[in-house]
Amino acid sequence: MMVATPPAAPHIPVLLRPILNAIAPVSGTWLDGTFGAGGYTRAFLDAGADQVIAVDRDPLAFEMAKGWAGEYGTRLKMVEGNFAQLDEYASDLDGVVLDLGVSSMQLDRADRGFSFIQDGPLDMRMSQSGPSAADFVNGADEATIADVLFQYGEERQSRRIARAIVADRPFSRTLELAGLIERVLGRGKPGQSHPATRSFQAIRIAINDEFGALIAGLEAAERALKTGGKLVVVTFHSLEDRIVKRFLASRSETRQGSRYAPEALVEEGQFKLLSRKAIGPDDIELSENPRSRSAKLRIAERTGAPSTPFSRKGLGLPRITEMKLI
Ligand SMILES: C[S@@+](CC[C@H](N)C(=O)[O-])C[C@H]1O[C@@H](n2cnc3c(N)ncnc32)[C@H](O)[C@@H]1O
Repeated sequence: MMVATPPAAPHIPVLLRPILNAIAPVSGTWLDGTFGAGGYTRAFLDAGADQVIAVDRDPLAFEMAKGWAGEYGTRLKMVEGNFAQLDEYASDLDGVVLDLGVSSMQLDRADRGFSFIQDGPLDMRMSQSGPSAADFVNGADEATIADVLFQYGEERQSRRIARAIVADRPFSRTLELAGLIERVLGRGKPGQSHPATRSFQAIRIAINDEFGALIAGLEAAERALKTGGKLVVVTFHSLEDRIVKRFLASRSETRQGSRYAPEALVEEGQFKLLSRKAIGPDDIELSENPRSRSAKLRIAERTGAPSTPFSRKGLGLPRITEMKLI
């Protein structure tokens, strides 16, 4: 018997109020690198942006926008692509916004394979192309699987899970893999997150190269923003937030070239932080949208300092540069 996929819950934009407050008055050209359900894009256009260039790597995002996108005419330009290359889509921008991770539409649609609650093909590809989660768990060697689970999911039982995956593969369905992880880790206490949460996050990050895209996207935003332009980033877990925090910290330092001639060699950083600490959801947002609980917002303003190559050292970026599929 075929079981129909229930319709996905609409995606509720996260931290929208503090974003709009921080960037008011909204004007000029913005690039929304994570269009998703279009929540930010619409809000920016409605708040006065002249144009929004909306980028997403998931072609389905634009399919779903067909019903309303026409309302904005040429003020809305949609680009299927990766925000890692956002400076190829636009320059001289007044703002760039990145709302990282997956949308509720992607998570809740069983056929996209992100869910460990609903059964679906073991897919997890945002762009619907390239190696899938099944290719990874069925093809990577045990050490690589363990590294991915540990480094991208902070899963302390990564070695035990990797050993069990290699012994039991191939896997083709999300619930087969979730069930195996539950057998290895045990069910967990009521109120705790599902035992497969960390492993699914890790596999999703790895196959979509989310951290590689994030760093390249931050660098590209630096090149594409005009002086005074705003960079707005919303993250959903500590590993992502650490990358954004360290990038902005290193780019907002004033560097002194020499202690013998400090005035001559002071170099301004490329960004000025608009809030020193990350901004989280308030109680109203938490009660309206429990999924916002781990969201963190960081905002910075581009200075006039020239963009320079960025050293990734010290970013705390897990070192999985290449996935070995066998
Ligand atoms: C959390 S949702 C964004 C929701 C959106 N802000 C809204 O209000 O509807 C993240 C979206 O970003 C997309 N995405 C994630 N990484 C991306 C990347 N590197 N390049 C382009 N799109 C990406 C995902 O496909 C997903 O649609």
